[in-house]
Amino acid sequence: MNRMMHAVVVCAATLLSSSAVMGFSRGAPFASSGVPTDMAGRDCSACHRTFAPANSDARGKLTVILEAMTYRPGVKQTIRVRLEHPEARRWGFQMTARPTSDTTSMAGSFTPNENIVVNCDPSGAAPCGGSREFATHNVISSRNGTADGVTWEIEWTPPANEVGEVTLFVAGNAADGTGSNANDRIYTTTVKLSAEGACNLARRPTLRSLANAGSFSTTLAPNTFASVFGADFEVAGRSRAAGVGDFVNGAFPTQLACVAVEIGGRRAPISYVQSDQINFQVPALTQTGPLPVFIILNPGRPNELRSDQGTVTIAQYSPGWFTFSNRSIAATTADGRIVADAAVVAGGVAARRGDVITLYGTGFGFTDPVFQAGEIPTGVARLRDPITITVGGTMLAAGDILYAGLAPGLISGVYQFNIRIPMSATPGNVAIVATMGGVSTQTAGGTVPVQ
Ligand code: HEC
Repeated sequence: MNRMMHAVVVCAATLLSSSAVMGFSRGAPFASSGVPTDMAGRDCSACHRTFAPANSDARGKLTVILEAMTYRPGVKQTIRVRLEHPEARRWGFQMTARPTSDTTSMAGSFTPNENIVVNCDPSGAAPCGGSREFATHNVISSRNGTADGVTWEIEWTPPANEVGEVTLFVAGNAADGTGSNANDRIYTTTVKLSAEGACNLARRPTLRSLANAGSFSTTLAPNTFASVFGADFEVAGRSRAAGVGDFVNGAFPTQLACVAVEIGGRRAPISYVQSDQINFQVPALTQTGPLPVFIILNPGRPNELRSDQGTVTIAQYSPGWFTFSNRSIAATTADGRIVADAAVVAGGVAARRGDVITLYGTGFGFTDPVFQAGEIPTGVARLRDPITITVGGTMLAAGDILYAGLAPGLISGVYQFNIRIPMSATPGNVAIVATMGGVSTQTAGGTVPVQ
């Protein structure tokens, strides 16, 4: 009995020291991701030498797939590593993250899961307590017998404080699946991520004015897409547009590049920031009248900076057209060409009488269904309240306003109107005026060319 037990134990240990240790249960040996300061830049080709050095077989490919080339301090993100080769049948990888300025220290940490092992330098498994970490495959995610390629998903939590640019070092083994270190193709790559949201803005912001982003009216309505003007919103010369990587639950963020806008105590979604301008959307407020406004830098942090209080008047409607250079309403033909004087927008065309064109604007109030500011409607959301539209002074019949509501796929502050240009319109730059509750779109630039 004792002998048998012993025999079983020896057998397991043998397994562990051969295939299991290297290729399988605990992934690749630590410090083989190709970091120059780790064991003189060792990568998998130090042992998988048949086709050394790494990247010598051009038929294979190692890619790192990211939602954005940035990280936010302390905010976990998913990194995808894809390895492909036409002949390989088993797959392995290793990845580590280092501050570019000091590749001897770890940047953040990886989370192990059923497909991903995290090894520490020089030994042990995560949590690594601040020592260098290596995310790697295990026996399951080496997908023995799988052809063409595999993708691993790795959860990475960046450092809590920004450390400047971070470099991801990745190595991959497109192996032949025979369980040895021969006949395997090795690939290496690096990717650099810049820090986002460091929040070290040092100057107190000055708020000067707010305006409808289309008409420049200073009275704003709920959900209006608007701009605030002033100074020191951002470091001079730096600008930041919200991208998909910034979205929070599928909506525009209420903090972008360490800047927030607060109206009537509510945070507004932001789409763009530069030192003297912020583009944002008024929250779906139900109160009207004057409301306090603040610009807040480094929001919620010990170094938070608030502007003096400003005031904005909120009304039910603030209808305005978006324009091309304040000279022509932002409009397109049914087949997607820009309607504008070619002198204003190169390639612009005039609308034809009888055509249906689409106009874009903001400030037209609530819709059905209601969208919160920052959300992105995917389908139809018509205006809740009545609107009239005149073209060249002639009131459009209800049947010639084919759609009046939010523009699907865009931030919920962008409205679109599909209207038919009357046959009676006089060719030239024709004024189009939309009116809600007695408030009309702007006159300056509120025209479209008609032929
Ligand atoms: C210190 C030497 C060494 C290094 C470095 C090394 N390996 Fe290996 N690897 C081996 C050996 C030896 C085997 C053969 C099986 C065993 O002994 O565990 C192996 C096997 C494998 C296998 C299974 C191969 C097959 O054909 O089935 C995979 C996958 C693998 N290694 C991935 C990697 C990856 C990915 C790296 C780099 C990040 C790497 N290894 C770095 C020594 C190494």
